[in-house]
Amino acid sequence: TERSVQVKLVLLGEAAVGKSSIVLRFVSNEFQPNKEPTIGAAFLTQKCRLEDRVLRYEIWDTAGQERFHSLAPMYYRNAQAAVVVYDVTKASSLEKAKTWVKELQRQANPNIVIALAGNKIDLVTPSASSASPSPESEDEADDATATPGETTASGEPESLRQVPREEAEAYAQEAGLLFFETSAKTGEGVVEIFTEIAKKIPID
Ligand code: GTP
Ligand code: MG
Repeated sequence: TERSVQVKLVLLGEAAVGKSSIVLRFVSNEFQPNKEPTIGAAFLTQKCRLEDRVLRYEIWDTAGQERFHSLAPMYYRNAQAAVVVYDVTKASSLEKAKTWVKELQRQANPNIVIALAGNKIDLVTPSASSASPSPESEDEADDATATPGETTASGEPESLRQVPREEAEAYAQEAGLLFFETSAKTGEGVVEIFTEIAKKIPID
């Protein structure tokens, strides 16, 4: 018989960073380009299979809009894991993420496993996506800033990285967090958040 552990997980982060989209990718392997803001919170479940056991995540996807901030403790209380999300194209969202981490470290379960996820990485990694084949992309030598032609085919606003990976990763390490860069749109890094958290959840 297989062990199946239930793990209560909460997502926190500024509005529109992509919390619900990360969950939708993890639970349904889908993406909605115009996902509506979450009101209050949403609850979803998904199994996560490791080599030696299966976890059942009970996911509380909270609303990032400031007017819902006071509800958050209801959702992170008793949580065994938290995913704090920011948007790599919006520096202020990392600052907001840091305040969530501080709040969790003060108020949540002291053993909570916290992951920091820098989402929307598809907007700042041009050549990884097949949407914009650019044969001339080899001549970037003196052009360290991304070229302004990188607007995605789907018409999203052109957007540049505002949070260097190294900066966020250094912060995560110092604060004792798992760290990921993700794209709910392409799926990059999303499952990894949940499997790496799962590995850190004690067996009993
Ligand atoms: P609240 O519920 O208001 O807190 O927002 P949220 O954090 O749940 O954000 P949501 O998932 O609703 O996404 C906000 C917008 O960003 C939507 O239009 C998404 O389609 C878009 N989005 C989410 N993730 C990504 C991503 O990885 N890449 C891109 N390009 N867009 C994304
Ligand atoms: Mg949401």
